[in-house]
Amino acid sequence: MNYENISIERENGIAVITINRPTKLNALNKATIEELHKAFKSENEDRSIKVIIITGSGDKAFVAGADISEFANFSIKEGGRLAAQGQEMLFDFVQNLETPVIAAVNGFALGGGLELAMSAHFRIASDNAKMGLPEVSLGVIPGYGGTQRLPQLIGKGRAMEMIMTAGMIDAPTALSYGLVNHVVPQAELLDLAKNIATKITKNSSVAIGKAIQSVNAGFEEGVNGYHTEIRAFGECFGTEDFKEGTTAFLEKRKAAFPGK
Ligand code: COA
Repeated sequence: MNYENISIERENGIAVITINRPTKLNALNKATIEELHKAFKSENEDRSIKVIIITGSGDKAFVAGADISEFANFSIKEGGRLAAQGQEMLFDFVQNLETPVIAAVNGFALGGGLELAMSAHFRIASDNAKMGLPEVSLGVIPGYGGTQRLPQLIGKGRAMEMIMTAGMIDAPTALSYGLVNHVVPQAELLDLAKNIATKITKNSSVAIGKAIQSVNAGFEEGVNGYHTEIRAFGECFGTEDFKEGTTAFLEKRKAAFPGK
């Protein structure tokens, strides 16, 4: 598939999706959100891809937010639709993928950029990264899940302060808040993401998909995460991956998971 705003590289079961609008600090316009949806969907459906890394091009920004120029004149109805469509097409979609998604935050992750990073299953950052939800400085609120995912990740009080001040936190602060798992110099960021991804590729992709589903269930309204876990745990016993994983252990060899 040909993309205008993103590029994809695949190697050893890992797909790296790079948002490629550096002159606009990789801001998420409608076309980019649509392309990202297609890319995440097709990489998730590709059985050979075990992990997806999402990052931004250039050395300045991961994503500097939703593209402000596209929604500056929107009505109430259009604003609501923008948030609803974006959440469904990209942010909820990424969060609920069975394939693990790592956000490699290589610079500014603001507004929709931080919301995209927060939709990923976990985040690592370069030491120049800056993160924030500046929406209230524009007279709007985070609309791509930021008011929900930021408190889940760093706690309500810290999230409230970040949202109300519209300020940015640096990478060490993000690390201390638990918003990112690791901080490294920018030149080492993708290598670290790929090293972590490689460890993940060695494990059962079926089990990982079920683990993601079970963790997410605990944050869904009206869903009992423990019940989801029990069901998913049981389902694992019917998979070829489970047979291979337990057999390999008993035979004292490394498992070669079929991913089924
Ligand atoms: N939407 C649209 N365009 C954006 C953008 C966004 N969210 N963020 C940056 N850009 C564009 C700028 O308009 C500029 O384009 P131009 O060269 O055609 O004028 C280009 O990207 C470079 O940005 P610039 O502001 O010149 O870089 P800077 O280094 O001075 O500042 C930021 C960097 C990230 C602090 C600043 O770009 C910024 O505050 N961006 C908006 C962040 C935001 O509010 N995001 C939430 C949106 S809901």
